Amino acid sequence: MNPIEVLVEEHRLITRASECLARMIGAAMLARRLKFLQAESIVDFIGAYADAWHHAKEEHELFPRVAARKPSWDVDHLADLGADHERCRACAREMHESFREGAHGDPEETQRFCRNAQEWIDLIRMHIYKEDRVAFPLMEHALTADDTLALLQSYAALEADPRFAGIDAKYRTAIEELEFVYNIVPPSNSPDHGG
Ligand SMILES: [Fe+2]
Ligand SMILES: [Fe+2]
Repeated sequence: MNPIEVLVEEHRLITRASECLARMIGAAMLARRLKFLQAESIVDFIGAYADAWHHAKEEHELFPRVAARKPSWDVDHLADLGADHERCRACAREMHESFREGAHGDPEETQRFCRNAQEWIDLIRMHIYKEDRVAFPLMEHALTADDTLALLQSYAALEADPRFAGIDAKYRTAIEELEFVYNIVPPSNSPDHGG
């Protein structure tokens, strides 16, 4: 895989997580409370995988390399995508702050969680669409062969970093468990499900 394809593959797992979260908030709105373990799992996924792993790879590795090539685009995609990341982080902070009380049965905190979760879902789906369909093809065009190699090396260094040891397998398992809980059939065309 090239460095863009690695990120697109991660988008598939994040999209699956967004479907789990959509089911979770549907159930929570009916019950007027969250289920602690499921809410904790998704909050952890969003903070550790979607943000600290995936968004950080984009912001610290890919985007600076693209910026250095000074692409002449009509739209500043790097600024736009960075702003999306910040908005996702704001929702994630609200979810992190509200899920415990929501799971203890506080209806206002449950609502706060659900409101921000829905905003995160809408944001991340739009954001992934923009990256996959618009910005990443432009970035791929802007990058040189040296950039591509350097990005693959920096990704490999991150994967070797003990802070991120086993991160992909850990969070794939976490999402599979949530899909099981919410009776979601994983996408059949997903490579991580064998075809
Ligand atoms: Fe992004
Ligand atoms: Fe992304």
